[in-house]
Amino acid sequence: MRKKIVIANWKMNHDFYETTSFLRNLLQIIYEKKINHSKKIIIAPSFPFLHISNQILQGTILDISAQNIHYMDKGAYTGEVSASMLKSIGIKNVILGHSERREFFFEKNDLLLKKIKIALKYGLNIIFCVGETNVERNNNQQFHVVKKQLSETVFQCSIDKVRSFHIAYEPVWSIGTGKTASLEQAQTMHEFIRSLFSDKYGVNFSKIISILYGGSINDINAKNLFSQKDIDGGIVGNSSLKLEQFLKIVQS
Ligand code: PGA
Repeated sequence: MRKKIVIANWKMNHDFYETTSFLRNLLQIIYEKKINHSKKIIIAPSFPFLHISNQILQGTILDISAQNIHYMDKGAYTGEVSASMLKSIGIKNVILGHSERREFFFEKNDLLLKKIKIALKYGLNIIFCVGETNVERNNNQQFHVVKKQLSETVFQCSIDKVRSFHIAYEPVWSIGTGKTASLEQAQTMHEFIRSLFSDKYGVNFSKIISILYGGSINDINAKNLFSQKDIDGGIVGNSSLKLEQFLKIVQS
């Protein structure tokens, strides 16, 4: 059985108070069993709040993820945060390859592979994002683009390492735009990604890797998306910022 996962990617949103009160309220609702859900929930707050967030969720079924790491162990890289620092405060997950990192911080596949290696060295689980731009889809290059993104990064890892990954298909044209991929577009791409894993690591492995969809998920479209055969949950930006809406998505 594949894990069903919902990740709240808060990006550069929520200050200290908003972060801590969201998490405390979320815990209260889940532990008072006011909602039924079967998905693993991972919250990705900003760097300054990872430690307190992890403390709040300690010993619960919820988990925390960082949104980024630097590719070096340590050193003179002003403003950066290393995988070992995250490890030292008990963080177990990191998002890599997000299109906003690729677009605004010029992160290319070779750099992402370095980040993957350092994350694996410190035993972090990786939520690795792939997805095509609008122009690439209009030119029918989406499969080629996603295959290249995976081939030059995740597929450089051996099967024992690749067990630490969740994959997120996030079409760039859908992120933060309110334009969700159609069920067919999303399912077709997820099936394609799974077939790539099957070719590379064997059919059995391809059946257990979780592939999440991301891009304008909300409380209305989540249920249909999550019920597609190859969609194992989602990575949620805007709609994860309000507790009520996020809870509806978790229950979808
Ligand atoms: P969105 O963001 O839900 O706001 O489209 C998703 C993401 O960037 O992970």
